[in-house]
Amino acid sequence: MDFLTSDQNTLRALEKQLRLTYENFKRKQLKLNMARGKPCPEQLDLSSGLLESLQGDYRAEDGTDCRNYGGIEGLPEARRLFAELLEVRPDEIIVHGNSSLTLMHDLIARALLLGVEEGEPPWSRQPVKFLCPSPGYDRHFAICEFYNIQMLPVPLREDGPDMDLVERLVATDETIKGIWCVPKYSNPTGITYGDTVVERLAGMKTKARDFRIFWDNAYAWHDLTSQPDRLKNILTACEEAGYPDRVYIFSSTSKITYAGAGLAMVASSVKNINRLKKQMAIQTIGPNKLNQLAHVRFFKNAQNLLVHMQKHAAIIRPKFELVQKILQTELGAKKIATWSRPKGGYFISFNTLPGCAKEVVRLAAEAGVELTKAGATFPYGHDPQDQNIRIAPTYPPLDELKTAMELFTVCVQLVSIEKILRERSHPPAGYRDRKEAQIV
Ligand SMILES: Cc1ncc(COP(=O)(O)O)c(C=O)c1O
Repeated sequence: MDFLTSDQNTLRALEKQLRLTYENFKRKQLKLNMARGKPCPEQLDLSSGLLESLQGDYRAEDGTDCRNYGGIEGLPEARRLFAELLEVRPDEIIVHGNSSLTLMHDLIARALLLGVEEGEPPWSRQPVKFLCPSPGYDRHFAICEFYNIQMLPVPLREDGPDMDLVERLVATDETIKGIWCVPKYSNPTGITYGDTVVERLAGMKTKARDFRIFWDNAYAWHDLTSQPDRLKNILTACEEAGYPDRVYIFSSTSKITYAGAGLAMVASSVKNINRLKKQMAIQTIGPNKLNQLAHVRFFKNAQNLLVHMQKHAAIIRPKFELVQKILQTELGAKKIATWSRPKGGYFISFNTLPGCAKEVVRLAAEAGVELTKAGATFPYGHDPQDQNIRIAPTYPPLDELKTAMELFTVCVQLVSIEKILRERSHPPAGYRDRKEAQIV
């Protein structure tokens, strides 16, 4: 039943029924959380044995005693393993502590204080702006907001950011110093950047000589299907375009081994990596090399890590499928929402009718289901259409996920009916011309 063309009485009757269903959910006093993309316990169990893999032998292949200080760039065998996986050379990567977000944060902080290369002033000498493809990752936006970096939202399309807009902006504004990108299975829409977008980002003319791409490849190996998306190598593309120092690539094993105790890495040109190493050496005498050694011993090689990722997929694929099934069954024909069908990553991006997302999230919370804050996927927490909601299906067990999603679809229907009826009695200017729901 298409809500947009249903008559008033039909909608009112349905609203009454939905209200009863909602009150029944409320009586269950649910306490379910779908706010963050966390691995579930079964996924964490896949790495059982990791911490035991050292078996009293703490020597790395070059004889380093990993219990002691040193090795700012990471163990050679850890750099080799993740260089192969990220398709860079071992001297183009630093393997560090447990969080890629820390690496990103620290890089921005140092860029503000010191600049990103010899001869260029600290970014903070003048106002700084960043391009923020949106919907995007809220914690990237939080770093910008924290450091007073002005965020310019750029629409994220099926193959990456709107490159016409990106090229136009960076060509004329010297204060635009960077862009955030989650290039594979993006958070939250699940899209992967196309080759042309990668080439255009690598080769575009920027007014700022010290422009940088923050390439957060958090979901590089997180495929859900047997036909994974393929991402063009941006480091090579930047080299070929004559801008070898333009990109910093980040990743981590947070959703491979342990989210709180994995390894994070940054890859870039050798020049950038050497500068970074010197700066990081002021901050620490070395990373946790025991954990690096444990990871290398546990996986042994890149192929084994990819097999490990297939085991992750086997655990979380049914959760993604369940969400798709419930959305399709409950909302499929109603024309009040659209949602993504990602082939990997951790999220499903859901769009309500304009102006409904906040209220849906509020209603769900009132009945005990916590979702990511509406607006969080946009800079400053401001979704101009108030329609995007990020669904994170990985953590809850299937039965809880089912309950949470059923309640969610009830909330979406209730809020949509209220909006449709409200606008029929007081149509806003230009309402009829507006596209109702945009495919993400
Ligand atoms: C796009 C993206 N980048 C980074 C992170 C966090 O990575 P880490 O655990 O390595 O700090 C996440 C976590 O959800 C993410 O979605």
